[in-house]
Amino acid sequence: MAVTKMIEPRDVDLPAQDRGAIAAKVGGVLAKTYELLLASQLVHWNVKGELFLPVHQLTEQHYNELFATLDVLAERMRALGTEVPSDGATKSFSVSAKLDGSSMVNMVEQLIAMHEDAAKGAREVAGFADDADDPVTSDMMMDSLKFHEKAIWMLRAIVTK
Ligand SMILES: [Fe+2]
Repeated sequence: MAVTKMIEPRDVDLPAQDRGAIAAKVGGVLAKTYELLLASQLVHWNVKGELFLPVHQLTEQHYNELFATLDVLAERMRALGTEVPSDGATKSFSVSAKLDGSSMVNMVEQLIAMHEDAAKGAREVAGFADDADDPVTSDMMMDSLKFHEKAIWMLRAIVTK
């Protein structure tokens, strides 16, 4: 997600250039969070078979948590002094429509892979924010990392025989 070049002034000991770079990273996490939310909903709606209930219920918990995270991330971008681009976000939505629904296990495996990717992204952005002396963004990334790692465990436990 591209971030606008206009960075609003903030006298918080974070240079505008750093704030813009951090916000761009947060925007990337925002897009991935949206993808994962939609993928979780697709699994929630389409799941069938003997594991219907645990997968149906867990994916609902996940998309609700992801929805709340979206607001935190987008508002962090605003607090850093950038806009949340209205043109970049929509491109990511088609990714979640590519879920292979040929089997329930397959769908859950794809969700796990997306959580793993999101966890790596959150860890990377946390390090980036730490290097820029921005503990607030780093702390948000830690919250996301905790969530994704727990989601990976729970989803993996459901499909492990
Ligand atoms: Fe539902």
